[in-house]
Amino acid sequence: MNQSIPEKNPARRHFIKSALTSAALMAGVGEAEAQPTPECKPASAAEAFWGEHQAGIVSKVPAHTYFVAFDLITDQRGQLQALLQRWTLAAAELIESGAMPGLMNKPLSVTFGFGPSLFEKDGQDRFGLAAQRPAALVNLPRFVGDQLVPERTGGDLSVQVCAEDPLAVETAIRRLAKVAQGVAVMRWAQMGFNGRFQAHETPRNQMGFKDGTLNVNGQDPQAAKAFVWVGDEGPAWLRGGSYMVIRPIRISLEHWDDMTLAFQEQTIGRHKASGAPIGKQQEFEDLDLEREDAQGNPVLTENSHAAMSAPESNGGAQILRRAFSYDNGIAKIAERWPPWRQLVTFDAGLLFQCYQRDPRTGFIRLFKKMAQIDMLNQFTTHVGGGLFACPHGIKPGAYLGEDLFV
Ligand code: HEM
Repeated sequence: MNQSIPEKNPARRHFIKSALTSAALMAGVGEAEAQPTPECKPASAAEAFWGEHQAGIVSKVPAHTYFVAFDLITDQRGQLQALLQRWTLAAAELIESGAMPGLMNKPLSVTFGFGPSLFEKDGQDRFGLAAQRPAALVNLPRFVGDQLVPERTGGDLSVQVCAEDPLAVETAIRRLAKVAQGVAVMRWAQMGFNGRFQAHETPRNQMGFKDGTLNVNGQDPQAAKAFVWVGDEGPAWLRGGSYMVIRPIRISLEHWDDMTLAFQEQTIGRHKASGAPIGKQQEFEDLDLEREDAQGNPVLTENSHAAMSAPESNGGAQILRRAFSYDNGIAKIAERWPPWRQLVTFDAGLLFQCYQRDPRTGFIRLFKKMAQIDMLNQFTTHVGGGLFACPHGIKPGAYLGEDLFV
């Protein structure tokens, strides 16, 4: 960014520059190397970056995302700290000034996470952080049917950018990747998108069904406190943060499209057009899992996705889902379900993502049983992913994960 933009808020710019300089000096990084581009134009969106919680968790799911997992290529604690400092300032600057001219003042969120391997990798405590690893930051177990590809799985650090514009997320993530050069390398990445039909309607995914009808309402502080934010049970660096599970799930869309409407609806447990539970009229009516037909059979198939994922079927477990679709173009793919085709088809599906207070009573509890018998599994294959602990938000003057290094 080398255009000259009239400076509207010199004080803010000074803050960024001086904070960056002191961060760089603390970490032994030359000022020239760590300098942000100075022509930042402050915007009110900046407030969203600095705060109690990281942005991009409970906010409305936007149209585009770009997720990248990084591996550290250093074992120097100071270099890791310096990267976290540079990322903090680069993200703040991106949000304030936009990723490029024309993208200023467009809402953009950046969310960072720490994978289990940051704390311990191959039995090594590379950065002296093992004691800070919370028990809930487990290595995800292997689930039935998992076909995780190493090149799309894990990572020491995660960075996710969300915005309404695809070029904004791509430009911003490039900037953040550049900041990591020499300290961390990209391990895997996934772009995702959401359709925009009617603003007030639940979005639909590639299967044509409404996705997000029943979800934790992240905008409700009580619900977020109960199900999303880590509380006093967690270490200081994570209190007010959250655990994020991400899984690119390939969907055999051609196979799905061949199914009758009735079978699709039975699989999901909801009507396609309205989103209502099977046998009901309105999207937000109760699922009523116990309903039986005249023959005494359950109206809602017991292993339909809606029945399997309902809190009542999982000891009250609830997660905040933030789903995106993905489409990586076409690839030669061997399907794992009948008719067991090998074909060139769409490498597409759901970039499943969920936030929770504890993954052991969130995603892991929900997905363990689902992975075995959910009817949806006939069409889906989990091909990668990871668990990341997303630290609490960053206060002005501090940097991402700072209290890990006490
Ligand atoms: C490609 C894979 C998947 C697709 C297409 C999909 C789609 C859907 C759809 C259409 C619904 C019903 C509408 C709604 O309530 O939002 C739903 C609900 C739900 N799904 Fe999925 N889903 C997938 C994978 C998963 C996975 C892996 C989990 C993991 C735990 C999950 C958890 C849930 C939950 C918790 C609900 C809401 C249940 C409730 O609160 O009653 N889904 N999903």
